[in-house]
Amino acid sequence: MRSDKFLRGREDDVQQEQSGQQRQMRLGVFVQVPGHHVGGWRHPDAVTTDWPNLPLMQRIAATAERGRFDMFFLGDGFATGYDEHPSTIGKFEPLTLLAALAMTTTRLGLAATGSTTYAEPYHVARGFASLDHISGGRAAWNVVTTAYAKSSAVFGRPHPPHAERYAMAEEFVTACRLLWDSWDDDAFVGDKLAGRFVRPGSLQVPHFQGRYFTVDGALNVPRAPQGHPVLIQAGSSGPGQALAARIADVVFTAQNDPAEALAFYRAIKAQAVSFGRRAEEVLVMPGVMPVVGRTQAEAQALFAELNRNIDTGQAFTVLSERLGMDMSAFPMDGPVPTPPPTEHLKSRAALLMEMARRDDLTLRELYYRVAAARGHLLLVGTPPQVADVLERWFRTGAADGFNVMPPFFPGPFDAFVDSVVPILQERGLFRADYAGSTLRDHLGLERPVRN
Ligand SMILES: Cc1cc2nc3c(=O)[nH]c(=O)nc-3n(C[C@H](O)[C@H](O)[C@H](O)COP(=O)(O)O)c2cc1C
Repeated sequence: MRSDKFLRGREDDVQQEQSGQQRQMRLGVFVQVPGHHVGGWRHPDAVTTDWPNLPLMQRIAATAERGRFDMFFLGDGFATGYDEHPSTIGKFEPLTLLAALAMTTTRLGLAATGSTTYAEPYHVARGFASLDHISGGRAAWNVVTTAYAKSSAVFGRPHPPHAERYAMAEEFVTACRLLWDSWDDDAFVGDKLAGRFVRPGSLQVPHFQGRYFTVDGALNVPRAPQGHPVLIQAGSSGPGQALAARIADVVFTAQNDPAEALAFYRAIKAQAVSFGRRAEEVLVMPGVMPVVGRTQAEAQALFAELNRNIDTGQAFTVLSERLGMDMSAFPMDGPVPTPPPTEHLKSRAALLMEMARRDDLTLRELYYRVAAARGHLLLVGTPPQVADVLERWFRTGAADGFNVMPPFFPGPFDAFVDSVVPILQERGLFRADYAGSTLRDHLGLERPVRN
């Protein structure tokens, strides 16, 4: 654990931004039930029954909205099996779940992951446009290329290599944007007197011919309240960053070192500018796992309890997948072996190996860190200690906000909302109430004009 260093911070990191007081932090909750920590689900307070448990999801969404969070975020993948991370074995399909949650929330942004490797642009464009209507402008799409080859099994086709997946993603998003712009904003007039349900001249049929995808027809959903749903991108390799800088409104990333987080943040903003965008149009949100206690000892005790509950098979699946090599064959108290270049999560493998070298970790130590937060920032401490680190990362320009990853649900998320959020609000770092109604309003992002 490097919590002391994180909690104390490095004075030379702290360069107060000119506009630091006015800038507002963005907060999302990364919902992986029963919990992000591999051992989280076995905590006595974790909800694990009546799976996949809609009331639990409704409760988490209500808590996020009470905490004035920007968004509720669902990851997604297609693999299941005994040795998977418990949060991926059995779950809701994201878009149908978010449509249900749109009915029990009024302001909270609703973000789901959608694959550009295992779907058609039409299906994804239609689903998110529809969710944006159902929720009154609160939809976001996490654009992923789906990193793991095992995801391909259910589709019965080979898993494309990393570079090809990103080439497909570029085309996929371009096609979706054209589909979302099929209809003018004011196309559906419903004019009974004139006998016009739709205004003539309001349809622009997309004609897109790519290498991987072709679209030669329009979307049968009116233009969405947000124009386009908010686009999130979460790949941090070279091609991942390039895609993010070109198309993303929000970048999710795993970072655990302040200096590297700062460098990543600057690289994304600089690339966005090179694509003719303003730096503020792309928000960078690293993940953070808060393990909060009333005292530091209480927080450490909770963390120790979570670690005692780790299932070795599941933890090695998570670790081996991230590194692209079976790690269970190596001695736990030896050095971390160097894996060959991976075609899966390139940036995460690099981040974990960098962390292992920087902190001189044994395989066992790396195993525990990955079983907890999978390489994301891990903070074990009191509410003010956790708030201090978030504030420091935010003010130094390493983050525009955070994607909160509770070790299990619902307790630790309640604790974050009830004890850390009020501190951030008192410090003027986070909103006391929502000012607008759409997710673009919350994030301070413009509504895309139809081309
Ligand atoms: C916060 C966060 C959430 C992610 N969620 C998903 C997900 O739900 N499904 C998925 O297939 N990949 C997910 N990823 C992985 C990335 O989309 C990407 O595939 C991965 O980082 C590999 O790409 P890279 O080599 O460009 O980093 C996530 C990454 C991050 C940082």
